[in-house]
Amino acid sequence: MKIVIVGTGYVGLVTGTGFAETGHQVTCVDINPDRVDNLNKGVMPIYEPGLEELVIRNMEEERLRFTTDLAEAVSDCLLVFICVGTPQGADGFADLSQVRAAAEQIGKAMTGYRIIVNKSTCPVGTADMVREAVGKLTTHPFDVVSNPEFLKEGAAIDDFMRPDRVVVGCDDVRVFEIMKELYAPFLRTGNPMLQMTIRSAEMAKYATNTMLAARISMINELANIAEAMGADINDVREAVMTDNRIGPSYLFPGLGYGGSCLPKDVQAIAELGRKHGVPVRMLDAINAVNRDQRTRFLQRIIEFFGDAIAEKRVAVWGATFKPRTDDMREAPAIDIIDGLLEQGAAVAVSDPVAGPFLTERYGDRIAFAARCYDALKDADALVICTEWREYHRPDFVKMGELMRERVIFDGRNLYTPKVVAEQGFRYFCIGRPSV
Ligand SMILES: NC(=O)c1ccc[n+]([C@@H]2O[C@H](COP(=O)([O-])OP(=O)(O)OC[C@H]3O[C@@H](n4cnc5c(N)ncnc54)[C@H](O)[C@@H]3O)[C@@H](O)[C@H]2O)c1
Repeated sequence: MKIVIVGTGYVGLVTGTGFAETGHQVTCVDINPDRVDNLNKGVMPIYEPGLEELVIRNMEEERLRFTTDLAEAVSDCLLVFICVGTPQGADGFADLSQVRAAAEQIGKAMTGYRIIVNKSTCPVGTADMVREAVGKLTTHPFDVVSNPEFLKEGAAIDDFMRPDRVVVGCDDVRVFEIMKELYAPFLRTGNPMLQMTIRSAEMAKYATNTMLAARISMINELANIAEAMGADINDVREAVMTDNRIGPSYLFPGLGYGGSCLPKDVQAIAELGRKHGVPVRMLDAINAVNRDQRTRFLQRIIEFFGDAIAEKRVAVWGATFKPRTDDMREAPAIDIIDGLLEQGAAVAVSDPVAGPFLTERYGDRIAFAARCYDALKDADALVICTEWREYHRPDFVKMGELMRERVIFDGRNLYTPKVVAEQGFRYFCIGRPSV
């Protein structure tokens, strides 16, 4: 099939590459000419493990191409996937301006029947808006489908190629059959394609992200109580997660969630409920607990140093919102770094992939160290914000030699307190007694 993907971010690029990998003819369109130029040279706009190799192979085999010319791409295809951003607007609702613009451009460019598939995360009712925007600009027939994406950054290729399920909201059986055919290679293990109404599909994505966010906020709130009561949340968590009704996913206490999805999606569905007069007490609490989690952690660092903080040097390990991605949107590290700088502390940050973002945002207000040990030189404390694998088993002796004071604030609970204490460190973590 000939497929057009509009938007080459985390979702569009992975989706387009995934379809090309199964033999389809895919054209990816982006309004950002630098992004398209780079992609045509094989330079990835994002860090996503395994993506580059797949993109280059499919380009070489002429199943995948990149362009800024949406009209040319849409003039000859059956399916058009909208994969543009839906950031949080000033009012808390999802900002649908990119989706609307993409729909209008598609409407103008259509030369015959098209299936327009919305993969961006959009509030219930967006398909109606897309239908209206396209319909105003074309006389050609078309169908609109909602096909939300559930991939996780850092594991996006695997998630796309082996999805737990594919959700398709559509009201036409023939269109559903085409979607089924398209996704069949990814569902060979028997995982289901779930057909539902467009509105249910639009809601399914928000509901899933909300459940995930709720688990994170719940374990964090429990961690805070455990800490206050002298219990160890790791032990508590083991007891909770081995209950078959609960399971282990998304139950790691820490600095809370960030990224481009959970914070904005929980907010967007809360606003949607509020707008329709539905109480959203739990939704509001999920985001509030999440925001507090980083503030509490920062406060603890500030309180530890007291007024002397302005003379301290703090090393930060990890800046991205989670490991194996370069996405810095809503990353807890930003709040921690900003807060430390505000207090006058000198800050040295190390992260395997966030260097360009950090340099652009902070310039010489922070010291950036490509290698994690370099950030520790003369540091009065280490703060861990992201659980990159290389931080899991560091050389504590070397760390102790480099640092001025042996203090660790671990926002991801990577170490066993007793082990760190034996190396002469003071160790503050989340939901466990500090040593
Ligand atoms: N990032 C994730 O992990 C993830 C997972 C599931 C769903 N989603 C959802 O998928 C959508 C896309 O997310 P993302 O992270 O890939 O976004 P992104 O911001 O990384 O990429 C969006 C891309 O769309 C391009 N674009 C915007 N308007 C365009 C237009 N009119 N024509 C062509 N290109 C255009 C932008 O230049 C950008 O490259 C969002 O709704 C998001 O909530 C994201």
